[in-house]
Amino acid sequence: MERCRCCGGVLEKVLDFGRMPLADRFVTPDEVADEYFFDLTVGMCTGCAMVQLINVPEPELIFRSDYPYRSSGSIRMAEHFAATARTLAARELTGQDPFVVELGSNDGVMLRVLAEEGIRHLGVEPSAGLVELSARRGVRSVAAFFDHDLALRIRADHGRANLIYAANTMCHIADIGSVLSGIDALLTDDGALVFEDPYLGDILRGTAFDQIYDEHVFYFTLRSAQRMLAPHGLEVSHVEPLDVHGGELRYTVTRRGRRPVDTTVTSLLAAEDDAELTDPAALASFRRRVEETRERLPTLLRELRSAGRRVVGYGATAKSATVTNYCGITPELIEFVCDSTPAKQGRLTPGAHLPVVAPETFSAHYPDHAVLFAWNHATEIIGNESAFAAGGGQWIVYVPEVRMIAG
Ligand code: SAH
Ligand code: TMP
Ligand code: ZN
Repeated sequence: MERCRCCGGVLEKVLDFGRMPLADRFVTPDEVADEYFFDLTVGMCTGCAMVQLINVPEPELIFRSDYPYRSSGSIRMAEHFAATARTLAARELTGQDPFVVELGSNDGVMLRVLAEEGIRHLGVEPSAGLVELSARRGVRSVAAFFDHDLALRIRADHGRANLIYAANTMCHIADIGSVLSGIDALLTDDGALVFEDPYLGDILRGTAFDQIYDEHVFYFTLRSAQRMLAPHGLEVSHVEPLDVHGGELRYTVTRRGRRPVDTTVTSLLAAEDDAELTDPAALASFRRRVEETRERLPTLLRELRSAGRRVVGYGATAKSATVTNYCGITPELIEFVCDSTPAKQGRLTPGAHLPVVAPETFSAHYPDHAVLFAWNHATEIIGNESAFAAGGGQWIVYVPEVRMIAG
């Protein structure tokens, strides 16, 4: 029997995507033969209702020194993190000589703004390549996985942190108990943990099944997050929705009783109860819509291909590993996927083995159709590539359902 990582309760299987590769492991042709696959299945805890992966590959396999994701790859996201840095500095870092720790600091996209202000900071980022890149931007980070032991070491070296920030990282860490006890050890009495992650409510509403892949271990709701934090003496005192990555929540977490729990929390809890987010019926209806997309997307692509149309993909996202492998999308259906990340170019997408090329290959000779795998960056990409639609090209999206859109 599989157990919940938060409360030890029993996990009930709610979704099964079958064998999937690691979503950020872009392979060379000679790596194809021993590509790693695992069973991508989602369970819901019968105790605390946390939705989570049942099997998670070892983090050392996923977050290696060549982990290719760069947060600064989107201008809109770079702006989001710069604005976040300024907001958090004004709200949480106003005392004398404040100290901030970021988990999953990636290429330093957020901390560089605080570093420029001379604020004492430390990023924690397992990928050594990203730590090096951050250093070139004036950001100090340590190449390590955050856990309880590391928290104690940081506290011994730097003292307690007034702010611990984590974007799209808490949901990536299976050993969440060690992370939360580490946060408890590292945070000042009045400090805050601020974290933001994809929201289960948005995933279900948007049929965004491609948010489900090896790195996304947890699919939080406010209620399940609250239950996860409580045993560590922590509570959500403020919550705000974010219009990034398809819909996220930003949680401000403080020690129990230290700050008033405001109405953003009480009203979202009430809304979640009304929406019956973790009701098995909600997940069953999600599953039916996902299965519909699994039919419709390859059917549309096959029709276009037999009509002689050229179809490519845009954005070799980690999310697209789930779409291409689950929907059986092969290089016969999608000629290539273009992506601005140098480390992905010249390789093949995980599992489906679609060639990844630079965006210049796309614009040099526009295809008839482009599947927008980076649908969460639609405004930015469709804007940058406006000549594609102007010349008659059509974008294809599959979230919330399969359709073609005018540019
Ligand atoms: N914060 C960035 C990056 C998110 S990707 C953003 O929002 O764009 C998730 C990041 O978490 C990766 O850079 C990964 O290497 C890092 N990560 C994974 N496990 C971690 C852990 N245990 N501690 C700290 N960082 C971790
Ligand atoms: P994400 O959805 O996980 O943030 O990944 C987005 C991917 O899309 C990433 O590999 C970078 C790529 N990308 C482009 O190729 N061009 C763009 O304009 C943007 C915004 C992203
Ligand atoms: Zn549980």
